Amino acid sequence: MIRSTSWYFVVAGICSVLAGIVRAGGDPPTGDPAAGKNKFATCAGCHAIPGYTNAYPNYHVPRLGGQHPDYIVAALKAYQAGDRSHPTMHANAFSLSEQDIRDIAAYVAGFTSTAPAQPVQGDAVAGKTKSTVCAACHGPDGNSSITLYPRLAGQYEDYLRKALQDYQAGKRNNPIMKGMVATLSEQDMADLAAFFASQVNGLGIAQQP
Ligand code: HEC
Ligand code: HEC
Repeated sequence: MIRSTSWYFVVAGICSVLAGIVRAGGDPPTGDPAAGKNKFATCAGCHAIPGYTNAYPNYHVPRLGGQHPDYIVAALKAYQAGDRSHPTMHANAFSLSEQDIRDIAAYVAGFTSTAPAQPVQGDAVAGKTKSTVCAACHGPDGNSSITLYPRLAGQYEDYLRKALQDYQAGKRNNPIMKGMVATLSEQDMADLAAFFASQVNGLGIAQQP
């Protein structure tokens, strides 16, 4: 008993030393939404226009308003690093500094939405049944409470479907989502996209006044 107690203190001691080293590496900069608003000007031409679409293939430019800041940071870094293959977003993200990314994330996250359900093409009822496995991370209605997991509620249906296809095809390289989509059929992805897109109080457009 004495032995295991002292081991506990040894392990706890190592952990606190490690935590100190991690902290010494520097906390990430805090995002400044006012600075982010200015920096978002170059992004607004696509992301602040309701219904704006990507060409070849044609699907909606994603809604960013109200998205979790930690996830926005991760997504922009993935475009920078090439873990997400999208030449336009790579070009837009490439020259952003860590501070720029955090400022922009803080700005777009500040939008709130009370959007009603968006009309969808796919079978949202079938999607709901298939979504139980997604709920642990993304929330039962796609409004996840964990900031590393993106909110999906109210996102464009065709964008969600494209994202799922890209994880499956390896055009988006994320170990968690790669595992999640591995066994999904085209029909499953369409149904899931319809379900999450049709949820209320979801994402909105980061519209600049
Ligand atoms: C020419 C249009 C265009 C411009 C300009 C643009 N984007 Fe994008 N953005 C897109 C498209 C299209 C996607 C979806 C890419 C994909 O399928 O992965 C996207 C995706 C994103 C995502 C991922 C969203 C998610 O839910 O994962 C973020 C974050 C983002 N853009 C931020 C920005 C920022 C910040 C800027 C400005 C520095 C910017 N974008 C400029 C078109 C644009
Ligand atoms: C274990 C946690 C977890 C589970 C379970 C999970 N996801 Fe995800 N999901 C993530 C993470 C983390 C990301 C961000 C990945 C990245 O950075 O590209 C993500 C990203 C996504 C995206 C991209 C969102 C965007 O804005 O581009 C979609 C769509 C998605 N998940 C749908 C689903 C669906 C549908 C399911 C169930 C079949 C599911 N996820 C299950 C963690 C999870």
